[in-house]
Amino acid sequence: TKLLLIDVDCGVDDAQAIMMALASPSIEILGITCCYGNTVLENVCKNVLRVLQVCKRLEIPVYQGASAPLLGGPVEGAFFHGRDGLGDVPVPNAPGLDHLQKEHAVIAMLRIVNEKPGQISLVATGPLTNLALAVKLDPTFPKKLKNVFIMGGNVESRGNVTVCGEFNFATDPEAAYVVLNEFTCPTYIATWEFTCRNSLSWEFYHEWINQDTKKAEFTEKIFAHSIKFMKSEQENTGNILWTSGFVCCDSYAMAAAIDESFVTEAIEAAVSVELNGSLTRGMMVMDITDLLKKKNKAFVINKCDLEKFKELLIAALK
Ligand code: BDR
Ligand code: CA
Repeated sequence: TKLLLIDVDCGVDDAQAIMMALASPSIEILGITCCYGNTVLENVCKNVLRVLQVCKRLEIPVYQGASAPLLGGPVEGAFFHGRDGLGDVPVPNAPGLDHLQKEHAVIAMLRIVNEKPGQISLVATGPLTNLALAVKLDPTFPKKLKNVFIMGGNVESRGNVTVCGEFNFATDPEAAYVVLNEFTCPTYIATWEFTCRNSLSWEFYHEWINQDTKKAEFTEKIFAHSIKFMKSEQENTGNILWTSGFVCCDSYAMAAAIDESFVTEAIEAAVSVELNGSLTRGMMVMDITDLLKKKNKAFVINKCDLEKFKELLIAALK
């Protein structure tokens, strides 16, 4: 069994990543920590509880973490995820916030990792604020993790919220900088362009969503808003990153954590984040030629097994 901590800013693809982990027989989720991002922190917490309710797994502990980036104000994710982060659909019988743990997410992360040093994988699919706070509180935190899987950043300087910035890194560049420079455990990164390059066909999307289950019904509802956005970008703007189908970003990082064979090629390189550029703040920078000679390298995922990915997605809604 693989032990997992999941840190999310629960929008639609985070929800899907959580469902993928819940459905995997080889995974035990020790906790889900929440970070502001796609929507405000309170909505993120509510969204995680809604996902757990649909999957009948409300016993999994959920913790509230950071409500804002280390510096500056949050970036708006509503254009894609809806104002509430899950497509603004009616929510009868939503679980109450009394289901949340009292302990702060960052304190919980440190405690849980201390209980099982070297055994836990951390999957992070939102801004990296909680992770950065954790390593600042306890610099030995990364050493006690087995590995970390991050959805975020970019390799070709293409942004999705600023010219060069991907949402998770550009929302809290300082936090991303701290994590990429101070996390010494094996670190896998599923970048924005990697996820776009491995988008799925709309035929697959419909096959996936048309499974006759409560989870598929829930997923179809919460995804409707973002699917409309993706399709209109593809049809009207010709945005080259959105030209080929359905992209579910956070699920790629989760698939890598669940199944080692999912990643078929990764580039080992030191990575960091630009903090000062007037156009490039929040952009991930990869030292491909190793000019900086930094010891701390990450695995930037370059190729994956898409058949495996589809299997994991299908299983998530069974
Ligand atoms: C990332 O931004 C968020 O909106 C998604 O949930 C994903 O984590 C993609 O850039
Ligand atoms: Ca996310």
